[in-house]
Amino acid sequence: MTGRVSGKLALVTGAAQGLGRAHCLALAREGARVLATDINAAGAEETAAMINAELGDGTAFALAHDVTSPEQWEAAIDAARDKLGGLNVLVNNAGIGVPGNIETCTFADWQRCFDINVNSIFHGCQKALPLMREHAPGSIINISSIAGLIASDTMPAYNASKAAMWMLSKSIALHCAKKRMNIRCNSIHPTFVDTPILDGTARAHALDKDVLMDKLARQIPLGFVGEPNDIAQAVVYLASDESRFVTGAELKIDGGISAM
Ligand SMILES: NC(=O)c1ccc[n+]([C@@H]2O[C@H](COP(=O)([O-])OP(=O)(O)OC[C@H]3O[C@@H](n4cnc5c(N)ncnc54)[C@H](O)[C@@H]3O)[C@@H](O)[C@H]2O)c1
Repeated sequence: MTGRVSGKLALVTGAAQGLGRAHCLALAREGARVLATDINAAGAEETAAMINAELGDGTAFALAHDVTSPEQWEAAIDAARDKLGGLNVLVNNAGIGVPGNIETCTFADWQRCFDINVNSIFHGCQKALPLMREHAPGSIINISSIAGLIASDTMPAYNASKAAMWMLSKSIALHCAKKRMNIRCNSIHPTFVDTPILDGTARAHALDKDVLMDKLARQIPLGFVGEPNDIAQAVVYLASDESRFVTGAELKIDGGISAM
């Protein structure tokens, strides 16, 4: 541990598994205290317990939190105040993909995708900013996707929601800068990373996970699928004061896909 985010107070959504858990671990290992939230309360508890076992009690806390609910966002910000003593890093990580192309995607799935991937950020930032202002400097980090920058015929709802997050991040960044809040906002755009989300992709395409991983790796110039820590290290950078001049930026972590 080198203390790159020593003293930071971070709330990470979707922290029960996958990337969210990795962000929590990486932030805590670099000195932050973390509130791990997820609709899957047991998974969030497990994340917090793993961190506390490694780094000591009181480093991490867990909360059941559905990011689509404005009321639950209020409770999450209250929990950050009570358990962490404030908030200066917000990682909007919770997200889903939904099946279907433009002809087959149901409107219910389209709406669910926007509720979880986009509307959550509207609610979360609106509720978090007053507390973050009290504890500036602050950093909002939105986990978008390379799918927010590059389209596919098979994921219109995911593409559109992740593109909306990208532009929403820039608008928040400019607002905070103009108001001299000393709060930055950036988006991260990963390509395929080996998390449980890819288990769902494998099932959806009736493929073995290994076959899917090979197939995905062949699409990536670097030739391999990412690991959660590849993204979590970018979260640490954006959460830290090392990135104090970085706002409104999109950080692509895609093994070179978008360079093609
Ligand atoms: N893994 C990848 O290949 C990849 C690539 C690009 C972007 N992303 C993005 O990274 C983020 C994390 O992805 P992951 O791979 O860890 O996915 P994952 O499915 O492993 O984890 C997502 C987490 O979000 C939680 N969640 C879902 N709905 C929620 C809700 N309404 N409220 C609160 N929590 C909720 C789930 O319980 C789960 O713990 C997502 O936004 C995803 O779109 C992932």
